[in-house]
Amino acid sequence: MSEEKLQNLLHVSTVINPPESFVKNANVKSYEEEYKKFLDNPEVFWAEVAEELFWYRKWDKVLEWELPYAKWFVNAQTNITVNALDRHVKNGKKNKVAFFWEDEFGNEKVVTYGSLYTLVNKLANALKRAGIKKGDRVVIYMPLVIEQVAAMLACARIGAVHSVVYAGFSVPALRHRIEDAEAKMVITADVTIRRGRAIPLKQIVDEAIRDLETVEKVVVLRRLKPRVDLIGEKEIDFYKFIENEPSYCEPEVMDSEDPLFMLYTSGSTGKPKGVIHTTGGYMVGTYYSMKTVFDLKDDDIFWCTADPGWITGHSYIVYGPLVAGATQVIAEGAPNYPDFGRWWKLIEKYGVTIFYTAPTAIRMFMRAGEEWPNKYDLSSLRLLGSVGEPINPEAWLWYYKIIGKEKCPIVDTWWQTETGAVMITTIDGLPMKPGKAGKPVPGVIADVVDKEGNPVEADKGGFLVVKYPWPSMMRRIHKNPEKYESYWKTIPNCYFAGDVATKDADGYIMILGRADDVINVSGHRIGTMEVESALVSHPAVAEAAVIGKPDPVKGEAIKAFIILKSGHEPSDKLIEDLKYHVRMELGALAVPSEIEFVDKLPKTRSGKIMRRVLKAKELGMDPGDLSTLED
Ligand code: PRX
Repeated sequence: MSEEKLQNLLHVSTVINPPESFVKNANVKSYEEEYKKFLDNPEVFWAEVAEELFWYRKWDKVLEWELPYAKWFVNAQTNITVNALDRHVKNGKKNKVAFFWEDEFGNEKVVTYGSLYTLVNKLANALKRAGIKKGDRVVIYMPLVIEQVAAMLACARIGAVHSVVYAGFSVPALRHRIEDAEAKMVITADVTIRRGRAIPLKQIVDEAIRDLETVEKVVVLRRLKPRVDLIGEKEIDFYKFIENEPSYCEPEVMDSEDPLFMLYTSGSTGKPKGVIHTTGGYMVGTYYSMKTVFDLKDDDIFWCTADPGWITGHSYIVYGPLVAGATQVIAEGAPNYPDFGRWWKLIEKYGVTIFYTAPTAIRMFMRAGEEWPNKYDLSSLRLLGSVGEPINPEAWLWYYKIIGKEKCPIVDTWWQTETGAVMITTIDGLPMKPGKAGKPVPGVIADVVDKEGNPVEADKGGFLVVKYPWPSMMRRIHKNPEKYESYWKTIPNCYFAGDVATKDADGYIMILGRADDVINVSGHRIGTMEVESALVSHPAVAEAAVIGKPDPVKGEAIKAFIILKSGHEPSDKLIEDLKYHVRMELGALAVPSEIEFVDKLPKTRSGKIMRRVLKAKELGMDPGDLSTLED
């Protein structure tokens, strides 16, 4: 593509058609027909998908709902691990590779469906023997290793509810999640390796569970030599734990609506909330999207660069791809360590065909220069995906041109922890518009509406909503029914996602960002209140307000405004102290990139900080209605 053509594309509202060869072979031949099939009879549509999977007992009814609650595949029984493992092992795929794993040093592991099956079964037996029963919560705090995936599946095998905590979270963040879930067990590792450095995880667990009585056992994957010490009867080595276990564990028969996992995510309150997903609907929803959104075929090599600590890893490393029988690549560590060629080298080495990553990574590689990907043969790629935040047209086109060589469609997938699976994108064959996510996936009725729920005019901003239940929707928020119901109460008869968006005359939805006090840093959701609470827990801070500011690589960066307590003076050292404090309280991803000391914060008369006023001032924008401002 010439530079001139590229510039034109950026300025005209561009439409790019996927290559004909792709469309001809796509799993879904026509988006319109598939969508119509869904609209004609949603229950028949989803039943047909579900029929492809294994159930101990089929459903009496596909869907039963009374908003805000819905049940999918009512009274059906299954176990997701039977679909993710047993089904493939018994159908000739025992030796098919499930995962190619690599670390930053190039050490590799090849794990077949057969060997993953054995590992999961042994671990499931060990969990049972340790007293973990159906419904018990198990926290998994591990790096991206095979044992992490196996730990999730072993819980699912016996009906225990896993809560995976991303290994970048710090002691208080981990403790809150263990405590809120009343977890009986924590599965962890001695270390995770990032940028060649070992980050001690076990030590963080030790501190996080101090005096927490619910935690009966800590299972530790020991990777380093000499091995870290284990203390007391509570702690056990991962491989010793499973050593003498039989290699088959009878799967727990799960009701379709039995919880499968919980996952904490940030909202507009100070504490993250535990989103609960259930078994049958989540399984069917993620499986369907593997085949349609990602066009997965039996010989594909799929690589989703997320971590199972986030929903993207749950749905598109663990459950979706394994239920669909995919071969995947996973890589522990940083994308640009030891150099900016790491990811492209892995694509070449393993012949990755479908690659799914986040805009923040694309922008980082864009800055590093195309000479890095150009060193490697990326011709195996046939489909690219993006997730987590809006992808700007410049990054989209770079991805399309430099990585996809203008022959791979890009699916810009909009979805959330709460939605469980992809909701909006351009599935196989739909023309693409850089910067616009696209249309609702078949099975989803989404729209952009005003506060009353009326559709807004084309290209006008509004709230992104979903108007009909979908199988992989969250079912509850742990111990917080009001919070759950609030998703469905803000806008009449709709699920309100928290995002603002526009829809064009062709029905393409463009996500503009969050409508609430959530910041999206490198595709990770961070609550302003979480960061503010962390800051005010520092002895020098009287008050804090936090906003998201546009950032060319991260999407948004965190800026904090701080009022100091008397006796404390602003200084560079204090700024560093405060950043360190947030890192210790929440984790590296929540550290503000800018801190400004102020004497006053804009507040409403009732004392609430008006972050939008701060943000408008910071960005030189109109602050809007100021009638509630204190003075
Ligand atoms: O604001 C949207 C943004 O990420 C939020 C969901 O975050 P989380 O639950 O952590 O899940 C992220 C991965 C699924 C959304 O409310 N978001 C996600 N995908 C996109 C996006 N914004 C724009 N375009 C996307 N493709």
